[in-house]
Amino acid sequence: MIPRHVAVIMDGNGRWAKKRLLPRNAGHRAGMKRMISLSEHIFDCGVEFCTLYALSTENLKRPPEELEGLFELFREYFIKNTQTLKEKGIVLRVIGNLQLLPPDVREIIQKGETETKGGTRGNLILAIAYGARQEIIAAVNRAVKEGGEMTEEAFSSLLFTGDVPDPDLLIRTGKEIRLSNFLLWQSAYAELYFTDKLFPDFTDKEFDKALKSYGERERRFGKVEK
Ligand code: IPE
Ligand code: IPE
Ligand code: MG
Repeated sequence: MIPRHVAVIMDGNGRWAKKRLLPRNAGHRAGMKRMISLSEHIFDCGVEFCTLYALSTENLKRPPEELEGLFELFREYFIKNTQTLKEKGIVLRVIGNLQLLPPDVREIIQKGETETKGGTRGNLILAIAYGARQEIIAAVNRAVKEGGEMTEEAFSSLLFTGDVPDPDLLIRTGKEIRLSNFLLWQSAYAELYFTDKLFPDFTDKEFDKALKSYGERERRFGKVEK
């Protein structure tokens, strides 16, 4: 079974650079290159939704030179890739608090989203300036304003991912075994896969291992085995 929605916490760029005595931003550049090829591979495998965690709300507290390097990579990514994604029928979406980004980065992102609308092959969702707790609190505030009783479905629809199915497989590269504020509500029943591979070393083959592991799992959702 191919997961319909795969989410990836792309971690380990800094350590990848450090191992090579390179600046952290060289690691982010290598990570970005890997992200572009990997996302193509993920859609080639038949996955419909791919969510990639590129920058957390907490990451915004990193030193200004690292952040500027990341923003510059986002500028490059959206400018270079929007047309290719459009041609391939991939819809680009960004989830997160875009207000926290420099205005020109925000505009480039919004342009990328507008231009790829209507694609039918897959959905590439980039989590940028994203935090799950902040997303949940924003949804709670909306719910309070609207009043009335909440259901799980109604609450889900208030999140950034309102129209996206929950992730089936959640991968984290880079050795850490934690979620770091990523899709906390949506991952209630996601299958988790952790790998020591640093993100720039997370090859398509390594992704296939994660798919294989997913295929061997029995998803019970709390029910008894058949
Ligand atoms: C992940 O790599 C990318 C971002 C969080 C922006 P890191 O920058 O966290 O890399 P490590 O964990 O320091 O190796
Ligand atoms: C999680 O990685 C965020 C992204 C990969 C974008 P971090 O490197 O920020 O996570 P922690 O600090 O190890 O929890
Ligand atoms: Mg990290």
